[in-house]
Amino acid sequence: MSISTSAPLKRVLSGMRPTGKLHLGNYMGALHNWVRLQHEYDCFFFIADWHALTTDYADTSQIKANTREVILDFLGAGLDPAKSVLFVQSDVKQHAELHLLFSMITPLGWLERVPTYKEQQENISGKDLSTYGFLGYPLLQAADILLYGGRDTTSSRIVELFVPVGQDQVAHVELTREVARRFNQFYKVREKEILPEPQVLLTPSPKLPGTDGRKMSKSYGNTIMLTDPEPVVRQKLKPMVTDPARVRRTDPGNPDVCPVGDLHKVFSSQETLAKVYEGCTTASIGCIECKGWVADSVVRVLEPIQQRRSGYEQNPKLVDEILEDGKNRAAARAEQTMVEVRSAVGIG
Ligand code: TRP
Ligand code: SF4
Repeated sequence: MSISTSAPLKRVLSGMRPTGKLHLGNYMGALHNWVRLQHEYDCFFFIADWHALTTDYADTSQIKANTREVILDFLGAGLDPAKSVLFVQSDVKQHAELHLLFSMITPLGWLERVPTYKEQQENISGKDLSTYGFLGYPLLQAADILLYGGRDTTSSRIVELFVPVGQDQVAHVELTREVARRFNQFYKVREKEILPEPQVLLTPSPKLPGTDGRKMSKSYGNTIMLTDPEPVVRQKLKPMVTDPARVRRTDPGNPDVCPVGDLHKVFSSQETLAKVYEGCTTASIGCIECKGWVADSVVRVLEPIQQRRSGYEQNPKLVDEILEDGKNRAAARAEQTMVEVRSAVGIG
């Protein structure tokens, strides 16, 4: 009867491809932020297993196992199934249905212009990426996102949808907004927009070097995994690249130009950081000692993550239940949007 005057429901949605076990770069770049967002937003987080097919269609043997590893890392990192809806993309078929509708209305040029398209086609060798699915990658992502906006029929509140992503994904969210606009123009119902435009939530991602000093990345083989046990962390950090000006132990160095210094800035306490600056610039500590301290800091961050993760690992039934519950809650929400979408398009 009364028009709802309640404030918009602030929702967050984001996804990750199932690349296998996650590393510290994945954690600091995404998961760590998602965990924080759970306290302020209505959250949906999912594993984009259909997206994995866009590049790995010829060998799908790892996708299921990788999906499982990523969900364990989600839970280990502290995503809380009581706070967030955690699900697998291919469990919610509405993603495929909306993707199909978007594929009908999107001009090819829009997709060919997406910067990641040409870039990845050139950079990923050994795979034929001149496929329809690879070109359509951002459209599937648009469907992932737009299913969770609109009006929440259950609470009848307007949803404001935010998509936390790194800089590399901003173009995809931009395209999502354009697709939403185009859809809304074609299929307007009584001046009402069916698919409101989502917003990017640019998440802080500190510079996180891998053990060779380059950006931490699976393809460089320079990662520290969330599951690495303490001795492995120490062993990986030992040969880490340092300030090249510090050739001898007696040469002073500068943590600001040292990858180990960068790790300290992300993971160490203020006290440790102060000791690093003082010791490094006066050559009163050695790099070996400094790397030992950074290992201590990293291990301290990993410890609770690994503890939570192994709890879930030992209880696979519980993980199944979490995913089943996530699937049901996500599908219920996605279906609300699809009911409106089908009616607006007039088919289905
Ligand atoms: N393309 C994203 C990536 O590679 C993953 C992704 C798929 C995503 N669907 C999404 C991210 C929807 C945010 C929202 O990281
Ligand atoms: Fe880098 Fe630490 Fe060595 Fe300084 S002491 S150069 S910060 S590893």
